[in-house]
Amino acid sequence: MNRSRAEFPANAVRFTVNGRRVLARSARIARLADVLRDELGLTGTKIGCNAGDCGACTVLLDLRQVCACLTALGQVEGRKVVTVEGLKQAHRLSALQVAFQKHGAAQCGICTPGMLMAATELLAMVPAPTAQQVRDALGGVLCRCTGYQKIVEAVLDAAQAPTLPLPPAAGEAVGARAGKVDGIAKLTGDERYGADAIPADALWLKVIRSPHHRARFRIGRLKPAKGIVRLLTAKDVPANGFGIYPDLKDQPVLAEGEARYRGEAVAALIGTRAAIENHDPEAFPVKWEPLPPVIGLDAAMAPRAHPVQAGKPDNLLLDGGVRKGDASGAMAQASVVAEGDFETVFVEHAYIEPEAGWARRIGDRVEVHVTTQTPYMDRDEVARVMQLRPDQVRIVPSACGGGFGGKLDLSVQPLVALGAWLTGRPVACVYTRPESMASSTKRHPARIRAKFACDARGQLLACEVDALFDTGAYASWGPTVATRVPIHASGPYSVPNVNTRGRAYFTHCHPSGAFRGFGVPQVAIAHEALMDALAARLGLDRLEIRRRNALRAGDRTATGQLLEHSAGLAECLDLLRPRWERELRACETFNRGHRNLRHGAGIGCMWYGIGNTALSNPSTMRIGLERDGNLTLYNGAVDIGQGSNTILVQIAADALGLPMSQFRVVMGDTDRTADAGKTSASRQAFVSGKAAELAGLDLRRKLFALAGAPEGEWRDRNYRLALEGDSVVFQRAGIRHAVALAQELLGEGSFDPPTRPADADGQGVPYATYAFAAQIATVEVDMELGTTRVLRLHAAHDVGRAINPVQVEGQIQGGAIQGLGLALMEEYVPGRTENLHDYLIPTIGDIPQMECLLVEDAEPLGPYGAKGVGEPGLIPTAPAILGAIEHATGVRPRQVPVLPHRLREALKHARS
Ligand code: FES
Ligand code: FES
Repeated sequence: MNRSRAEFPANAVRFTVNGRRVLARSARIARLADVLRDELGLTGTKIGCNAGDCGACTVLLDLRQVCACLTALGQVEGRKVVTVEGLKQAHRLSALQVAFQKHGAAQCGICTPGMLMAATELLAMVPAPTAQQVRDALGGVLCRCTGYQKIVEAVLDAAQAPTLPLPPAAGEAVGARAGKVDGIAKLTGDERYGADAIPADALWLKVIRSPHHRARFRIGRLKPAKGIVRLLTAKDVPANGFGIYPDLKDQPVLAEGEARYRGEAVAALIGTRAAIENHDPEAFPVKWEPLPPVIGLDAAMAPRAHPVQAGKPDNLLLDGGVRKGDASGAMAQASVVAEGDFETVFVEHAYIEPEAGWARRIGDRVEVHVTTQTPYMDRDEVARVMQLRPDQVRIVPSACGGGFGGKLDLSVQPLVALGAWLTGRPVACVYTRPESMASSTKRHPARIRAKFACDARGQLLACEVDALFDTGAYASWGPTVATRVPIHASGPYSVPNVNTRGRAYFTHCHPSGAFRGFGVPQVAIAHEALMDALAARLGLDRLEIRRRNALRAGDRTATGQLLEHSAGLAECLDLLRPRWERELRACETFNRGHRNLRHGAGIGCMWYGIGNTALSNPSTMRIGLERDGNLTLYNGAVDIGQGSNTILVQIAADALGLPMSQFRVVMGDTDRTADAGKTSASRQAFVSGKAAELAGLDLRRKLFALAGAPEGEWRDRNYRLALEGDSVVFQRAGIRHAVALAQELLGEGSFDPPTRPADADGQGVPYATYAFAAQIATVEVDMELGTTRVLRLHAAHDVGRAINPVQVEGQIQGGAIQGLGLALMEEYVPGRTENLHDYLIPTIGDIPQMECLLVEDAEPLGPYGAKGVGEPGLIPTAPAILGAIEHATGVRPRQVPVLPHRLREALKHARS
């Protein structure tokens, strides 16, 4: 039953919130989370699932942590509730909040209020807890971003009277462990996410979705109902198709006549919040005619398979490949050949913030406030489906509670925009957790056949890879995956003869889209397994064979690209070598005394092209200096938790020569910023970072011109700059010169990384630079149960330059723990795992000890040498874990996730 509070008679409940006595008039059975947010305006308490699974709604009730989404208002009568807004004492941050800021424990920040409340309960009972006590106390709160390590460190540090990181001085921002510029708001509940600032007078929108993988449908006449204002169907959408690529607008906003996946939107109801929340989905007048679906790659590729999309008779979306040298000839000559088949499944992003936003019409414009990774693409897509000019659409991104690629595709944007346009009222939509999981994109399931060959010394001679991907019902990012994978399929190694191929097929499933790595994590599972196999055949150490073959500056890649600079895989491996030897020894010692529990160590390597694949990939940044001395970074790049707001300020500040503390940031608003492209492909540090550096330099040049300095003087870094009121002060060698800011100044910088499109053989320059990394995993396998626990991870990453080491470590840790989920537990099954209790992601109890090692092999094109790290953190982890399982058990899993029943079966098979 889902009844609106408005339906119930007023029945006020008295209780205390954050020391203040309140009277709540919602129904006694209303969820406390809703009462706090909607009636009392305390939106710091977040809702990630409304089912007790995520812990984002954790508050204190009489000093004990509870899920506010599972607590009825009536239960709190006469009791004391504390929310994140109540943590400050006398307007000062609590020690715990300070520690979170110091350690970078909040990335997107959507889980942070829940984490803080759970930790507050612990610290009240145990002022100096152990790490295990922290893990136990925070075990009910999920974080998808951080990998939990910095959260544990922060809670442990809270007892040590931590202090906030000092803002770096002018010229010292790059490389500093600076606190997030938007960090404090995430710790106090002041940050506004997609569902946090919906106008009180907004109508609400509910999407009607297909319960079938494939079905024809007919929508009948909607009976008038109190509070229901309007029905939207495909007929209401002026141009009913959207998609990532300019020539591939194949996904309807609302399906027309036939639904192609379970969860596809077919209609939308708009009405008052009460009417929408009370609407019985069974009463919606739709007639379904289920049809046989095409599920899985075999069905899609079958000779007479039903075409999922008209005009695609063979269900093939894209066939990409790379050919260099003579792979089959080299295979025939090789001393050793290793080959195998590998399989992965759908993986859900599981960001803790479901899709949410609202829109309003202002004259002939529409303004959309939404959680997103890509405001400019949203603007253009909304304009397109509504047949408006792009300048008639304004996207105002809210804070983004996690994305990982899943918020690159449209979700609520066109629906609320259309609703607001047609009704003339603000219209809001917040997906439920099951709706988010059923309708959003997933990681592509892959089936990969791979073959690697080397000479007797272990030098790679050739590789052949054929990768098939299930792209679901619509293209989304399928073409990107099918082209990026063949480029990366040879691994981060120098391979003279290459023949790789990637194909994506349509099926009747939710679209597969962008998810941290665009198919590279899947293919890394294959190439790393075969590197281990070659090493085993030759009796070579697994780290050593990788080092011998590591791509270095001066080598050519599979696409023939010359790597002129910045290829630090060998250095990563050198850093790992002593740790590798120690882990191998530790496993050997442990295994001597155990039979059922076995320890093993594995190693995984990766490379990753930063930015779009062989496509223009520009970003523009602006810095405004007003006459009153206000300094603002107008930044079109959305920070989805990875810290781009902070590192872009660090870069801009040092380029300009002013301290980062003087910057304000405007993020993502398409009316106020320039297009910085999407937050994807690990590109913002590299591409937008370079644009921010150029913008800083441009403004510096203009400031020197304003002061009448000779041409070129702005390059002299002996000058110290300061803003004092409405003047800029230049100091050098004891001379001080103040200049009034007589006019507003604007610095602008743009950067588009140089690439070259591929020829028919896939030869070209797909990326301007590449990140490299190697990770070691040590696991414990229970041979009876088939369970695997990751004990330790060592991650060495070549990031070019760590603009902010805290943020870089956070990306690596968070990515690695997502990689752990990919390896061991995450499997999305439509209709079966559409919530966070059936779909398992790593909890704080699953995290291993983890060490991050940073290699700074500077990339001359990047800002201060930086490359990117968002996706690289995830890619080597699963291969390292799978290698560790093989080392522990003698069995190499070829299908992920390695669920206990799968491993038990494989072990049984190996014994028989
Ligand atoms: S919203 Fe309450 S546990 Fe997820
Ligand atoms: S910081 Fe924890 S979910 Fe994003």
